[in-house]
Amino acid sequence: MTTVSASPWNAQGEQKRAAVRAMFAEIANRYDFMNGLMSLSLHRRWRRAAVAELRLAPGSVALDVCCGTGDFFAPLREKVDASGRVFGLDFCLPMLERATAKPGGDGLGLADACRLPIRAGSVDAVTVGWGIRNVPDVDGAHREIVRVLRKGGRFVSVDMALPRNRVVRALSRFVGQTLLPRLGALFGMRTAYTYLPESTERFASREALAESMRRAGLVDVHFRDLFFGNICLHAGSKP
Ligand SMILES: C[S@@+](CC[C@H](N)C(=O)[O-])C[C@H]1O[C@@H](n2cnc3c(N)ncnc32)[C@H](O)[C@@H]1O
Repeated sequence: MTTVSASPWNAQGEQKRAAVRAMFAEIANRYDFMNGLMSLSLHRRWRRAAVAELRLAPGSVALDVCCGTGDFFAPLREKVDASGRVFGLDFCLPMLERATAKPGGDGLGLADACRLPIRAGSVDAVTVGWGIRNVPDVDGAHREIVRVLRKGGRFVSVDMALPRNRVVRALSRFVGQTLLPRLGALFGMRTAYTYLPESTERFASREALAESMRRAGLVDVHFRDLFFGNICLHAGSKP
């Protein structure tokens, strides 16, 4: 079994990449269970909200970057229909292995978010779910996403955020820093569920993420909060 040598929330650059990959490899077989439990299964609703931003037509080609176990495939498939295509890329093989069992996908690949093995201008839409926070070079990932989008193509990213309301933020910090690591530990996943709140604290602000998307070349960049501001959805399109 792969072991995590550095705390992924303290690591930077290549060290962060390696630590994050090792962490997801360790938890891949329990990821779906914990995701359902921690989000009270609300993640399905948040995914549908994200996919709605893409305004996908039947026959479209959608790419899910940092696809993990493939839970974006089904809501994407609903929109692109049988005539469209849904592809998933992730850099962690054990997560991808779980994605093979999920309905809706047409193909999977092992790839880093900053080096997508996809032709420029060839996809109609890109999703990233709870992935950008883990990537050491967020600007690089956004540039790569813009490269693979066709003109007019849309991008949506949904991830953790710090609630803007001070009372909600204090409550979320208590849950994240006290309860989550303990709950994670119950299932042998203390590192991953310490990483979640720690990486959220260190994550770029809503405005900084939007600015990174604009720097990469996206327009009509906007964001909105879900779940009392604990989740934020960013979207934009390629001019
Ligand atoms: C929290 S999981 C989210 C999985 C999935 N998108 C979902 O919505 O459930 C984060 C995923 O991002 C992947 N990931 C993290 N950094 C990555 C990178 N630099 N390149 C590709 N995948 C990455 C991890 O392997 C993991 O599968």
